[in-house]
Amino acid sequence: MQNYSTSKHAEQFVASIGIPMDRFITQRQREFPYAKGELSQLLRDLGLAGKVVTLSIAHSGISGLEGLIGGTNVQGEEQQKLDVVANIRFIRALTKGQQVCAVISEESDELIDTNNWHGRYVVAIDPLDGSSNIDVNVSIGTIFSIYRRKTPVGTRPTLEDALQAGTEQVAAGYIMYGASTLLVYTTGYGVNGFTYNHTLGEFILSHPNITIPEDGEIYSINEGYADDFNDGVRNYVRYCHEKRFRGRYIGSLVADFHRNMIKGGIFIYPSTRQDPNGKLRLLYECNPMAFIIEQAGGIASNGIKRILDIQPRGLHQREPLVLGSTNMVNQFMDCIHQNYAPETNSEVEFIDF
Ligand code: AHG
Ligand code: MN
Ligand code: MN
Repeated sequence: MQNYSTSKHAEQFVASIGIPMDRFITQRQREFPYAKGELSQLLRDLGLAGKVVTLSIAHSGISGLEGLIGGTNVQGEEQQKLDVVANIRFIRALTKGQQVCAVISEESDELIDTNNWHGRYVVAIDPLDGSSNIDVNVSIGTIFSIYRRKTPVGTRPTLEDALQAGTEQVAAGYIMYGASTLLVYTTGYGVNGFTYNHTLGEFILSHPNITIPEDGEIYSINEGYADDFNDGVRNYVRYCHEKRFRGRYIGSLVADFHRNMIKGGIFIYPSTRQDPNGKLRLLYECNPMAFIIEQAGGIASNGIKRILDIQPRGLHQREPLVLGSTNMVNQFMDCIHQNYAPETNSEVEFIDF
């Protein structure tokens, strides 16, 4: 009789589960030149908190976690219950993991000292991005950025550790809580994505080596603010209309970003009359996404400067943001520098409705 436990034949009934993120990280230790497993541990801590937040989101409708908590964050924005829950989960995971000496969070006014003064890393985090979409069951996310501290290990972390340019990031990523939960990160050696397998409790490599198409036909901008854009941005929007590009705007940066990276596209949150610096925060929204998009082969700018080259002045500093497929962002630059004259409305007969 054939021995199926050792036979090649038996393998067809035992599909591979794929590559779990932990194994993937371990096998790529060479990507972490300064670390002896600490950065790997930190990524695992973020993944762990992401799993717990996935659960909270999945049950939010039946566990009383929808809606506002009744307070505002440092930026005067109303906090959702899940904003606060996710903030606690991530800070707790990073504190207990002991690799991180300080955290900058959208939900916390000041630099958070984790009391791990021996930790070598600093994390900037948007614990829950797109929180206006929580109550309507639309994709939301977490965005993170990791730096090595500047001050000596063993001392109290300071603002100097937090206010580093995006070029200093050692890793960045996002977790998208969508139709599935996806963790995407880069350490500067390309971009990889992992889908959460709920049954196994593991993130499994599903999107190896993500690259963004050089060109695309999707533009993401909140056109409701069009009257408050400057002429250059309005020019570009007219260009998109003329090209019959598809407008897609979810209102969760993570979801808009992820779609554009996979399909090709451009995301713009420009300066507006009300918000001359745009809305998105440099440290935990613009910088991590800029690092990822560049690693995927795209471009990120504030319209004047490469996002990663901006020297931050404050923990919650905002920057205008344009990022995406190279050709689209270059076209946007042409438009905002007035090198593009939109065609005048051609004579079109519209059907009344
Ligand atoms: P957050 O929920 O972390 O405050 O971020 C919301 C951000 C971002 O996800 C999204 O792209 C943008 O706000 C949408 O803003 P508008 O509603 O002004 O378009
Ligand atoms: Mn956000
Ligand atoms: Mn947020």
